[in-house]
Amino acid sequence: MGKIVAANLKMNMTLDETKDYITKLNGLFSDLRVILFPTSIYIPYFLNKNFSLGVQNISSYDKGAYTGELSPMQVKSVGVDYAIVGHSERRNLYNETDNIINSKLKDGLKNDLKIILCIGETKEEKELNKTEEKLESQIINAFKDINDISNVIIAYEPIWSIGTSLVPTNEEIKKMVIFIKMVVKNIFDIDIPVLYGGSVNENNIKKINEINELSGVLVGGASLVPEKLNIIREVVLE
Ligand code: PGA
Repeated sequence: MGKIVAANLKMNMTLDETKDYITKLNGLFSDLRVILFPTSIYIPYFLNKNFSLGVQNISSYDKGAYTGELSPMQVKSVGVDYAIVGHSERRNLYNETDNIINSKLKDGLKNDLKIILCIGETKEEKELNKTEEKLESQIINAFKDINDISNVIIAYEPIWSIGTSLVPTNEEIKKMVIFIKMVVKNIFDIDIPVLYGGSVNENNIKKINEINELSGVLVGGASLVPEKLNIIREVVLE
């Protein structure tokens, strides 16, 4: 896989702001290696603009009486190819367990979505030297009873780094990326692409991009500013 830049816009912007954002982005670049994850209700406005598109969360069911949910089948039917599964905000604020994440992964893959699976440790786990243990269990539980993960990308996102301006050292990131790849390789015998996410911005991207083992980055806050996202794109993809 070539490198990618994934932009998680989270629950931000009104419709007018979104339209303005799209116009600005389009003025700066069009690149299918940039995957935008807008708030779902705005997805129609992003279609056919030469960006790849994804949703920030999916249901684990295809259809039925699940008020407020968005199914992988519906996502695919709109022409959207990607979904984030297991973001720490979903895990922590909406009580998504490893079990739920495993079900979402299964239904997403069944419907031919490409999945960005987020994993990462808390500050406390890091301090107790439990990062590898946490990552390994998140991987094993997420992939339970799944045979083919060729459409999965893992995003390594230390929870303490998301939205905090705190970024691990390159050595720390590299060590965990190699560890994640090893765990997956032992189960599936493939070299899984791994992204780094957590406070990536236009100032630190050059340094983070020096980590050869990375297949790109997952950007939150900085992706809300078109110019910042463009700088990140230039560093990673050009
Ligand atoms: P951040 O978010 O870049 O704002 O830290 C990253 C994420 O939540 O994926």
